[in-house]
Amino acid sequence: MRIVSGIQTTGNLHLGNYLGAIRQWVAMQDTLQPGDDCLFFLADLHALTVTQDPKELARTTVEMAATLIAAGIDTDRAILFNQARVPEHSELAWLLGGTARMGWLNRMTQWKDKAGKNREGASVGLFTYPVLQAADVLLYRATHVPVGEDQKQHLELARDVATKFNTDFAVELFPLPEPLISAAAPRIMSLRDGSAKMSKSDPSDMSRINLIDDDDTIVAKLRKAKSDADVLPETMAGLAERPEARNLVTIYAALAGRGTDDVVAEFAGQGFGAFKPALADLTVATLGPIRDRLTQLLANRDEVAAELRKGAEKARTLAAPTLRAAQEALGL
Ligand code: ADP
Ligand code: NA
Repeated sequence: MRIVSGIQTTGNLHLGNYLGAIRQWVAMQDTLQPGDDCLFFLADLHALTVTQDPKELARTTVEMAATLIAAGIDTDRAILFNQARVPEHSELAWLLGGTARMGWLNRMTQWKDKAGKNREGASVGLFTYPVLQAADVLLYRATHVPVGEDQKQHLELARDVATKFNTDFAVELFPLPEPLISAAAPRIMSLRDGSAKMSKSDPSDMSRINLIDDDDTIVAKLRKAKSDADVLPETMAGLAERPEARNLVTIYAALAGRGTDDVVAEFAGQGFGAFKPALADLTVATLGPIRDRLTQLLANRDEVAAELRKGAEKARTLAAPTLRAAQEALGL
């Protein structure tokens, strides 16, 4: 099994990112068997398809890597790198550009959504993004790719590119990557509004718990989190019309690794005056060690950059033979 997963570079990560994404990547690494490989790359080349501030991109790339390491990605077990340091990604994407068809890319819903009515003004990279994505996984002859709902179509395209390349050039170079559906990740809502997702783009810092928040800030944010004056019911069904309450229970259950019904049952009959301090303790106990490690890493950014360079070297040893074989198949 060889798993390849690309991760958007983004700054100011929060509890929603942790429970909804980062923790799943750590779990993936933790289930590896001997002989399996797991590659995580920061998709800095993909970031170029929309306008980027170069300083910001460099900063968020290192910060994302630091966050992953702080949250438990072990660079001795998983290969962690940024795409730009493995030039084979760009080169294979160009080679596959001869195989992918305009019609295939034209049908991508993400292209239609992101370009909107202004197709003429969209970057060429935004259009060919799925070809780079195909290269990202085919380069490592990946067997499995974790995909969310929004990326399924791009994985299908990668399979189409692999099939056409193998057929056109009579090679068995690219295995067809399978989607890896991980256990349903919880969706964490804003602490100020149970109908909005917890997000870095929410203007109110009180709406989210940032992974960099200190203990007192975490406690204060949870104390002020929107809830209601009722007690907790016996089961989650009783919270159907209470989105803020439901969200706090969801956070507790996710952090504790327990079912939501189990958590509600434990606190049934108690109000948020009792639930919130318990939630705050659990949150601080889980996020505190991650934040401390993250703070250390952010004070030693060179160390993080060095980890990424080491990861890129390992990735290149896996990538080089595939690229060479693709060139040979093409007469290059
Ligand atoms: P944001 O909404 O803060 O901009 P991103 O869109 O950059 O977050 O998401 C990065 C990753 O974190 C994605 O895998 C996304 O599904 C996950 N994620 C983001 N917000 C949440 C949330 N509130 N609950 C669960 N997962 C989330
Ligand atoms: Na977003």
